Amino acid sequence: MQETKTTVITVRDLYKIYKLGDERVRALNGVSFDIYKGEFVAIVGTSGSGKSTLLNMLAGLEKPTRGEIVIAGEHIETYNEQELVRFRRDHIGFIFQAYNLMPTLNAIENTEFPLVFRGISPEVRRKAAIKTLKLVGLSRFMDHKPTEMSGGQQQRVGIARALVVNPEIIFADEPTGNLDSVTTGEVLKLMQGLVHDRKQTLVMVTHDNELASYADRIIRIKDGRKIEDAEQ
Ligand SMILES: Nc1ncnc2c1ncn2[C@@H]1O[C@H](COP(=O)(O)OP(=O)(O)O)[C@@H](O)[C@H]1O
Ligand SMILES: [Mg+2]
Repeated sequence: MQETKTTVITVRDLYKIYKLGDERVRALNGVSFDIYKGEFVAIVGTSGSGKSTLLNMLAGLEKPTRGEIVIAGEHIETYNEQELVRFRRDHIGFIFQAYNLMPTLNAIENTEFPLVFRGISPEVRRKAAIKTLKLVGLSRFMDHKPTEMSGGQQQRVGIARALVVNPEIIFADEPTGNLDSVTTGEVLKLMQGLVHDRKQTLVMVTHDNELASYADRIIRIKDGRKIEDAEQ
């Protein structure tokens, strides 16, 4: 069946130049690409190639020096901090390398956290958190705190927290960087299956070609420039 592609992310001539004293670091040096609805795209490059800088700008966490970022029809490069907060809340889920879970909260409380800022009642929040934790295979760990879970289980909570708001787009920065290779494969397959089933768009950055092999498309960057863009 032939399907028309819907563009969800457009990046045009994106630059990020950091000033360190007299020195200028060109973390991104003119990057352009489009990402389509339902795609799982891996952005791959060695350490220092500009991956995190790029992802943070796509997620509205950092401002580009120059260039355009259009996500879900919104020109986020023109947004102020308040507009970016609203944009992130409405469109984005973010999965961090270091999980960023709150140590004093259990799995349910960590997962429902993004819903607290959306004016959703405690009962509805709790139901949504439980449903999402089941989805990531953590039925038996609902009341466990981060220190009472393995790394893989903690990252599943991180995934549940990103998914609970049912975002159009999920960004993940080296999401399995702290996990062993077996757990990494499990977490990647889980993310891949969930976003395909839910027709979400997943953009993951990694230095690891093995991880990237789970993606539908690989964009390679080197020294802040795109050097390859290929479906697989
Ligand atoms: N806040 C910052 N200030 C100055 N330089 C930075 C900053 N963040 C990143 N850089 C530099 O930008 C380049 C790209 O960094 P980064 O995006 O973190 O790469 P990656 O995630 O691919 O390892 C590196 O040379 C890094 O040192
Ligand atoms: Mg990085």
